Amino acid sequence: MAILPIVKYPEPVLKKRATNVNRVTAEIRRLIDNMAETMYDAPGVGLAAPQIGKSLRVIVVDPTGEEAKQLIVLVNPEIVSAEGEVIGEEGCLSVPGIRANVKRWAKVRVKGYDPIKEKTVEIEADGLLARIFQHEIDHLDGMVFLDRLGRVKRELLRRRYLKRLNEVLKRGKRK
Ligand code: NI
Repeated sequence: MAILPIVKYPEPVLKKRATNVNRVTAEIRRLIDNMAETMYDAPGVGLAAPQIGKSLRVIVVDPTGEEAKQLIVLVNPEIVSAEGEVIGEEGCLSVPGIRANVKRWAKVRVKGYDPIKEKTVEIEADGLLARIFQHEIDHLDGMVFLDRLGRVKRELLRRRYLKRLNEVLKRGKRK
């Protein structure tokens, strides 16, 4: 297993629709192991394959953020039903330093292939778990949470983020 570098916004891979996975090969299983390790190390509560530079429809989620406590892995996940609305704060490992309130479905039913159970599963989620699923599935559709905000707020946060990113890059070059 390996901890992989996390791709930062606005890298193109984060804006692309990720490809369906037709077969869970040994390579995909390795990818999943590395994604889980990278998520726990960050630490984070969810990670989508595009965030480590692989444009594939795979997500790992653990609402506890604690190593292997409640790990959920889904291949080709999709939201099959949703209800209610709730606003809550979000951040993203690919958009470090920025947090914002995002409106999401309050409850979702997510369907996907579980490579641990080796079958298709449906998971009903609310609260934090529902929010994480929506956030991670957005990554598979080429979206980050900033894209869910109103135009004014989005541009403000985007500019603030890019300014900071440029400063970090400049500092790195000077060393
Ligand atoms: Ni994210």
